[in-house]
Amino acid sequence: MARPETVVVPSLLAADFARFGECIDAVKAAGCSWVSVDVMDGHFVPNLSFGPDHVRMAKARGVIVDAHLMVANPERVAPWFVKAGADVVTVHWEACRDAAGLLREIRRLGAKAGIALKPATPAKDLAGVVGGADYVLVMTVEPGFGGAKFMPEMLSKVEFFRKAVDASGAACRVAVDGGITVETAPRAAAAGADCLVAGSAVFGAADAGRAYQALVRSSAAVESRGG
Ligand code: DX5
Repeated sequence: MARPETVVVPSLLAADFARFGECIDAVKAAGCSWVSVDVMDGHFVPNLSFGPDHVRMAKARGVIVDAHLMVANPERVAPWFVKAGADVVTVHWEACRDAAGLLREIRRLGAKAGIALKPATPAKDLAGVVGGADYVLVMTVEPGFGGAKFMPEMLSKVEFFRKAVDASGAACRVAVDGGITVETAPRAAAAGADCLVAGSAVFGAADAGRAYQALVRSSAAVESRGG
């Protein structure tokens, strides 16, 4: 399976919540087709954020929506987000009782299934589930808040999953999330990431659309070097 074109996925966690729809419109106008809704329950991570209605609102703006569930009970919550229209539902390895089973259930319900891992979780622990996922998400920060510092030591995990996905021939994206900027995006792409989730670097900028396009350019350059 050829490596898909690298995509930049703005995270709405960093958006102005009073202008949620307009923030999506701004990056969509700049060419963005996929946004991430970071769902936090105050248990799995020390923050509270979005619910299914935010996915519905985002879908109404005409973009692909990934619901990244940083929650302690993903088996119970994942169906809510598929029902709300999420195109991708990403759950955390650390919170799943049966990760492979939940990925199958998310797909059965009609969404693509993603599996995410926190910085402390070894990549090898997930070697058996990547074949059943559409998306493996390497957290490059400790999840819970936007604006945290990129952890370069996570790039070895990106390389691990790039190799595992390429060897399996699975149509699985390798994603990174946390501290992605025009400086770190090329490094992540060079390590093998083809999906770059960025919040502060997009919605923390004066012009989110231009910031999105700058991130796209920064990672595309790596592909052209065969990174
Ligand atoms: C987990 C969240 C953040 C967010 C992106 O904390 O998933 O990683 O999406 O954050 P920044 O602002 O670092 O791009």
